[in-house]
Amino acid sequence: MGLPRGQLLWLLLLLAAACSGILFSLYSSAVARYPGPRSGARNATSSRAFVGHKASNAGTRKSLHCQHPLYLAIQKHPHFRALFNLSTPVLLSGALFTQELWDRLSQHKAPYGWQGLSRQDISSTLSLLNGSESSKLLAASRKPLSKCIRCAVVGNGGILNGSRQGLHIDAHDYVFRLNGAVIKGFEKDVGTKTSFYGFTVNTMKNSLISYGNFGFISVPKGQDLRYIFIPSDIRDYVMLRSAILGVPVPEGPDKGDRPQTYFGPEASARKFKLLHPDFISYLRERLLHLLHLGFFLNGG
Ligand SMILES: *[C@@H]1O[C@H](CO)[C@@H](O)[C@H](O)[C@H]1NC(C)=O
Ligand SMILES: *[C@@H]1O[C@H](CO)[C@@H](O)[C@H](O)[C@H]1NC(C)=O
Ligand SMILES: *[C@@H]1O[C@H](CO)[C@@H](O)[C@H](O)[C@H]1NC(C)=O
Ligand SMILES: *[C@@H]1O[C@H](CO)[C@@H](O)[C@H](O)[C@H]1NC(C)=O
Repeated sequence: MGLPRGQLLWLLLLLAAACSGILFSLYSSAVARYPGPRSGARNATSSRAFVGHKASNAGTRKSLHCQHPLYLAIQKHPHFRALFNLSTPVLLSGALFTQELWDRLSQHKAPYGWQGLSRQDISSTLSLLNGSESSKLLAASRKPLSKCIRCAVVGNGGILNGSRQGLHIDAHDYVFRLNGAVIKGFEKDVGTKTSFYGFTVNTMKNSLISYGNFGFISVPKGQDLRYIFIPSDIRDYVMLRSAILGVPVPEGPDKGDRPQTYFGPEASARKFKLLHPDFISYLRERLLHLLHLGFFLNGG
C-alpha cells in the first residue's frame, strides 16, 4: 500500500469516525430508543444502534421513554431526515455473510468492500462473529427506560487539552475513543472511561509509534471495553480472527503479532466488533461532505 493511499484512508477513517462523533455530540443529551423500522431485518444491527436501544416493546407507553429521542429529532428536521438512514447496518457479523453480500462487496475496494481480498480470510473471520453480541453495538442497558442514553466520542486533535472535560466525558453512558487516544497525563481533560475503542490495524500500530511520546504506549484495555475493527485491509480481518482465536497472526504484515499484547488476555468474539463496509460507505456518501461545512470541529 503506497503512502498516498494510506494517508487517504487514514483521513477518511478519522473523518468517518469524527462524523459519528459529532452526531453523538450534537445529540448527546437527546439520544433514545429508536423503535426500529416497520419492516425488514429487525435483528440486524443498524445505525439505530447508534441512537439507542434495540427495538422497544410495541405496548410500552411513550411517557416511559427518553423525552427527546434522536430518531425523532432526525425525522422532524428536513435536512437531517435526508442525511440519515438509520437502517444502515453498523456491524458486520457472520449471519450477514451471504453469496449476495460477497458478490456486491467484491465490487468495491476496502474499506468499502472486499475487492481483491481473500474470501477464505473474510469468511473464516466472519464465521467466528456468529453470536448475537456480534451484531449489536450496545448491550442491553440497565438504565431506566425513561432515561436517554448518552454517548461521547473523544477526539485526539488536541483541543481538549486544558478543557477539564474529563468528568463530563466519563459521565456519559458510552465513551468512544479512536486510534491514538492519549489518556495518561490528560485524565482531567479527556476522562478515563472507554466503552469502545475503534481503529484499523494500520492506524493502531502507527498511533503506538507516533504518539508514544505523548503517552500512548498501549491501546485502552478493560473488562467492559469492546474493540471495533474498521476493515481497511485484509490485515484487519486476519488480526481480528487471530484475536478471537487467541493465536499469533499467521500471515501478512502482522505475522507473528500476538493480539493479546494489544487487546489484553480475553480472546473471545464478544470482545471484538467489526464495522460493516456498508456503514463506511454510508458515512462517506452521506456525512463526509459535512466536514467542508466546518461542521466537525471536534478536535480530531
Ligand atoms: C431476533 O431476535 C429475537 C429476540 O431477541 C429472537 O427470538 C429471534 O430468534 C431473532 N431472529 C433472528 C433471525 O436472529
Ligand atoms: C437505507 O438503508 C437500507 C439498508 O442499507 C437500504 O436498504 C435503504 O434503501 C436505504 N434507504 C434510503 C432512503 O436510502
Ligand atoms: C460459533 O462458532 C464457533 C466456532 O465455529 C462455535 O464453536 C460456536 O458454537 C458457534 N456459536 C453459535 C452461537 O453458533
Ligand atoms: C497541553 O497544554 C499545555 C498548556 O498549554 C502545553 O504546555 C502542552 O504542550 C499541551 N500538550 C499537548 C500534547 O498539546
